[in-house]
Amino acid sequence: MNQPERRTEGMTSGLPKRVHVVEVGPRDGLQAESTFIPTDTKIELVNRLVGTGLQRIEAASFVSPKWIPQMADGAEVMAGIDRAAGVAYAALTPNMRGLEAAIESKVDEVVIFGAASEAFSIRNINCSVAESLERFAPVARAAKETGLRLRASISCSFGCPYQGAVGVDAVVDMVRRFRDLGCDEIDIADTIGVGTARQVQRVVEAAAREFPLASLAGHFHDTYGQALANIFGALQVGMTTFHASVGGLGGCPYAKGATGNVATEDLLYLLDGLGIETGIDLGAVVSIGDWVSQQMGRENGARAGKALMARKALN
Ligand code: HMG
Ligand code: MG
Repeated sequence: MNQPERRTEGMTSGLPKRVHVVEVGPRDGLQAESTFIPTDTKIELVNRLVGTGLQRIEAASFVSPKWIPQMADGAEVMAGIDRAAGVAYAALTPNMRGLEAAIESKVDEVVIFGAASEAFSIRNINCSVAESLERFAPVARAAKETGLRLRASISCSFGCPYQGAVGVDAVVDMVRRFRDLGCDEIDIADTIGVGTARQVQRVVEAAAREFPLASLAGHFHDTYGQALANIFGALQVGMTTFHASVGGLGGCPYAKGATGNVATEDLLYLLDGLGIETGIDLGAVVSIGDWVSQQMGRENGARAGKALMARKALN
């Protein structure tokens, strides 16, 4: 696809040279959709994404189908996709039952997910933060014994839809807990997109005092339009892994009004412009964002994606 003339600003000094992008569209992007998306569409989405150079894809959730009906076909999705060499497929696993299903489905990475807010923990996974950590302990142990990569996600790291402000200490405490469970990577998640850039830098720097910065990831929902600014802030303090959702798909079923993650297209446009390597073909992702938005009958939520599609139509 033709892309507009853009100068690479030579701004990489002080910024990472390479960034890892984790595509969460097939999971975070779809989980809150009320109309069931056919399994074949989910499979095709994952397969198409793999062709763009993305090497990490969150493809499924092994959670209660009563809580999240949209993700009820996780096993079918995992069985149906073409597994590409060099690509790691991840799934959410809140408990042992989820882990067993994930192992059965031969995922490469499992994700335990907790919160820096008590109120959100109860709404999202029906238990307190302390209880969640008790549940996660055997999941973490078994995941490591099975040789799976173990990731943890900390929801509400910058604010909670139910309790409001969340202190840096609460996030750091969760980082320590997940570190002690043996996690390979920890996501600092802005579930409702309320964070702003300086706050993000403070939280990332505090988290990095407890866990290697190279193994922390930023998961930014774009509800307040801050996701790219927050990612830029995080880049400035050395974060190198970011989650994104093709077409800006998504929202969290337990965070009313929350919108999708930063769009993968918008993130790639930013990183390309900064001269930061990702190994991912922006044009290919743009086409997928357009395709999946049409499949779902929704407007494409990727600003750069829409602009590049419009430009393509003119050429
Ligand atoms: P519970 O009701 O407390 O647990 O749910 P339970 O053990 O009493 O089980 C209740 C029912 O669920 C039982 O079925 C279980 O068998 C079944 P019943 O006997 O009533 O027929 N069940 C399961 N079924 C399939 N797979 C499983 C499983 N576990 C239990 N693994 C539970 C606790 C955690 C299971 C529930 O609260 C749940 O599934 N919550 C879903 C949470 C979720 O997926 N939220 C969205 C993803 S997190 C997110 O989006 C945030 C993130 O993006 C970062 C950010 O942005 O913040 C990661
Ligand atoms: Mg999320």
